[in-house]
Amino acid sequence: MIPHDTISQIFDAARVEEVVADFVSLKRRGSNFTGLCPFHNERTPSFHVSPTKGIYKCFGCGKAGNSVNFVMEHEKFTYPEALRYLAKKYNIEIQEQAETAEQVADKSAREGLMAITDFAAKYFAGQLFNTDEGLSVGVSYFHGRSFSDETIREFQLGYSPDEWDAFSKHAVKNGFSAEMLEKSGLSINKDGKLYDRFRGRVMFPIHSQAGRVIGFGGRIMTSDKTRPKYVNSPESEIYNKSKVLYGISFAKHAIAANDMCFLVEGYTDVISMYRAGVQNVVSSSGTSLTADQIRLIKRYTPNITILYDGDPAGIKASFRGIDMILEQGMNVKVVLFPDGEDPDSFARSRRGAEVQEFIQQNAKDFIHFKIDLLLSETGRDPIKRVTVLKDFIESISLIPDQLTRLAYVKESAYRMQMDETAILNELNKLMRKKYTQKAGATAPEAEEIDNLFAPEPAVQQESFDALSTEDIEREIIRQLLLYGDVEIETNYPDPVTGVPVKNNVKAAGFIINDIKADELDFTNAQYQQIFDTCVNELKNNPDIDYRKLTNHPDNAISGPVIDLIATKYTFSPNWEKRKIRLLQEHEVLDFLIPNSILSFKSKRVRQILKELLEKIKTAESDEVSIDLQKQFMNAKRIANLIDGGQLGRTIV
Ligand code: UTP
Ligand code: MN
Repeated sequence: MIPHDTISQIFDAARVEEVVADFVSLKRRGSNFTGLCPFHNERTPSFHVSPTKGIYKCFGCGKAGNSVNFVMEHEKFTYPEALRYLAKKYNIEIQEQAETAEQVADKSAREGLMAITDFAAKYFAGQLFNTDEGLSVGVSYFHGRSFSDETIREFQLGYSPDEWDAFSKHAVKNGFSAEMLEKSGLSINKDGKLYDRFRGRVMFPIHSQAGRVIGFGGRIMTSDKTRPKYVNSPESEIYNKSKVLYGISFAKHAIAANDMCFLVEGYTDVISMYRAGVQNVVSSSGTSLTADQIRLIKRYTPNITILYDGDPAGIKASFRGIDMILEQGMNVKVVLFPDGEDPDSFARSRRGAEVQEFIQQNAKDFIHFKIDLLLSETGRDPIKRVTVLKDFIESISLIPDQLTRLAYVKESAYRMQMDETAILNELNKLMRKKYTQKAGATAPEAEEIDNLFAPEPAVQQESFDALSTEDIEREIIRQLLLYGDVEIETNYPDPVTGVPVKNNVKAAGFIINDIKADELDFTNAQYQQIFDTCVNELKNNPDIDYRKLTNHPDNAISGPVIDLIATKYTFSPNWEKRKIRLLQEHEVLDFLIPNSILSFKSKRVRQILKELLEKIKTAESDEVSIDLQKQFMNAKRIANLIDGGQLGRTIV
């Protein structure tokens, strides 16, 4: 169990923009950040992060929350997992309180599997460096591939001894259950006995985006052609092949920083390129790229360069996958390596600068590359050329951006020596067909998104009166949160002389004192809880700190707070029609805040009067009844004061 103090410490340290930036490439926009939403597929950014509010919100899919919610949602972490992850990120030490047996049992299956993969990665690394077999077979193999010890350690490479059950035995001895070991794929259960899946192989741990080990690839050490060169972990609750890219946790920052992602085929390609200084590189590990993997890359950059070893058949087989990348609105380039070389062998024998220069000079736009390759095979045969053209137009039609499409049409007309308008007509025909097929989905308007964190439009007094009690309570809490630190000028009558006196006070203090003075409470328990939290907060701190609330460990508080301050709140639906310049809300706080409190009091007092009347009717004794009647008279007096336009400092 994580102690309460530590939880608060984690919430305080975790800045939402930093936490999100590890997974989403964010661009500054005013005081906020925007990016492509990691929770749904989109082409234009509707995902917003507000550092001052300490929250994120996607205006496309509606997901919103604080830094802890983000990692829970994104990494599918449980609450404690998310806290541990953030604690690690911010170097906060967690001194765990002893867990009860029940809590241990409750740990999710995912956490259990992660514990096994982490344990296994450490075991394999230990076998590599600390055993004779590991050193003589594993380390010397890696050295032979020019991997330095530093690289080996960075990628957590390891070695699985050439025995039937060395790992499984060791894991069972360390308390892991046979059932979990089998689920993790590291052990194979045969007739009740556990065998190791990986035997006599060098081990490549596969990391999640957040950098946790979720699976393994193991490379054979013999030249036995009857056994697969690589054995990979089977799918599990934590390892989903089609959603993972090998190397993503190492590459993600470099991908965003260089605004480019290099895609290679294998584990060793990633490591060799990385070692050569090209760190923005990932691999789909032998399988063809999936839509989920493309989306993963797209969180960091719209630019992909595919690094091929020079085998035309393999390249052509990958074209379909590349069309999928185009369809996501990404820009695709390809680099062809010299005959017989793959990125790994090429990078191994050269210095980093040379590798980078080669890539830069040989990167070709995919669509050009595709025409050139296809045309080189068709020669002058007109029928074949038409087939190529159709194939090519199909690719162009997938590009979401119109100008980009037109540029390709021009270019290809030139290359194929064809009439531009003929290509364009063909393209338009195809596009129309596609359009009618998938009509319906519309992207959010850019302008709409721009306004979402903008200052709220001002509200007219009459709209307050139309609000329900719940709405006015929400409104007061919202003002307390958003404008608590702002100084407002009040103009209240002096209780003795009745003459209005100007006063400058912080809005938070004003709202709280005014409501507490009349001992009013909120009908909505959640709002009451937020209000009480603010009251407590203000005891220690002159200002209300958003983050204390949006990052509150109790979701019952952080949830509604996030909703309140992230949502655009308009009372007056026809304000647009009135065609007057609406004052922005922050310009009229002197008016707005006292009036919403007044409205709240008026509603609450009336409710209290009603409740008292009911109680008086059913009072058990005269004594009680008299007391209730006194309360009733008092409330009545306040109601009169409020209706007379005077905000009373009267105590109920
Ligand atoms: P390659 O055969 O090109 O392997 O397969 P490689 O990465 O160049 O390996 P080395 O250089 O011989 O060590 C590319 C990728 O395909 C997957 C692996 O992810 C590999 O890195 N693969 C390949 C498998 O999963 N299983 C296999 O049997 C072979
Ligand atoms: Mn290779």
